[in-house]
Amino acid sequence: RTVEWTAEDAEKGRYDHYMHKEIHEQPRALEQTLQGRLGDGVALDDLADETLDGVERVAFVACGTSYHASLYGARLLIERGVPASAHLASEYVTAPPPARAGTIVVGVTQSGETADTLAALREAHSQDQPTLAVTNTVGSTAARECDDALFIRAGPEIGVAATKTFSSQVATLALLAEQLAAREGTGRGRPFRRALAALPDGVRTVVESDDVRSVARQFRDSDAYFFVGRGTGHPVALEGALKLKEITYEHAEGFAAGELKHGPLALVTERTPVFAIDTGHNTEKVASNAEEIRSRGGPVVAVGPADSPLGDRADAHLPVPDTDPALTGVLANVHLQLLAYHVAAELDRPIDKPRNLAKSVTVE
Ligand code: G6P
Repeated sequence: RTVEWTAEDAEKGRYDHYMHKEIHEQPRALEQTLQGRLGDGVALDDLADETLDGVERVAFVACGTSYHASLYGARLLIERGVPASAHLASEYVTAPPPARAGTIVVGVTQSGETADTLAALREAHSQDQPTLAVTNTVGSTAARECDDALFIRAGPEIGVAATKTFSSQVATLALLAEQLAAREGTGRGRPFRRALAALPDGVRTVVESDDVRSVARQFRDSDAYFFVGRGTGHPVALEGALKLKEITYEHAEGFAAGELKHGPLALVTERTPVFAIDTGHNTEKVASNAEEIRSRGGPVVAVGPADSPLGDRADAHLPVPDTDPALTGVLANVHLQLLAYHVAAELDRPIDKPRNLAKSVTVE
């Protein structure tokens, strides 16, 4: 089934920037992503019956934001006992992993045209590995060249910085993870499907609260911005930093929280806010990482559930509505999208068309 988008969907409407509009569109985009795919089980009707036959392992190839969604998706699969890995597409072709029967190579690409991702998919194809495109773009090169395609149905995204497509990619990969795990009896089943169905409402709560605006104002003159998390919080940290550097031109880095002490802590000062993301993975350890940061003078902003133990140990707290812990990261990420947006607006940056960047990169 296809989703109809009108010409207005590709216009800015009452928003100053496409990026802001697309952040606000996420509840609707997610509804489209999930529509008809949740019921007594997961139904991915776009896939041919044989596409997932014999699949024992998933290797994702992707770039940029789509790579972060892939890291997130790989964790959802691993949590369900399905071996999975995420590869930067450009590195995949540099040192192709040995082909193994039972591995499906999944290219995650909003545009379906990113040259690095297409090259990785072609490499997999040349090794006779089955390929699947997870894309927003019907008729794209990735969709045509792969053995099959699964559409994220997020609608047109015009802003160079990907926002709604990240959320829809993760939701699609969550569906895929449930579908693959269900065959082994290791899916999370109905409670998880319910949480997925409620995800658009959770995102709406975050977007409408816009709690992050005052935080953006407070920290707009920082030397650098750091993001840390564990589990699914790690790809969210990477994505939060990518969004901020793309559109504000400020220095931002995302780290696995456990790696802070192995180097990045040397960068922490009172002028480097650290956003600590609590996705329910080793929360106590993230909280003690937050204390390490504060004892060195770094301001900490907690991003996580209202009752997160991080909240008490932070200078500010961006609350995330209750959901299945596997989806907390999607909600936390929406705060970070808005953080990047508001800091960029404070600094008067050309938000939809950042310098030196392109929406779709067709060279390797
Ligand atoms: C470009 C865009 C990024 C995007 C990346 C991958 O670098 O600026 O926002 O994440 O390409 O794009 P894709 O279309 O493959 O998801």
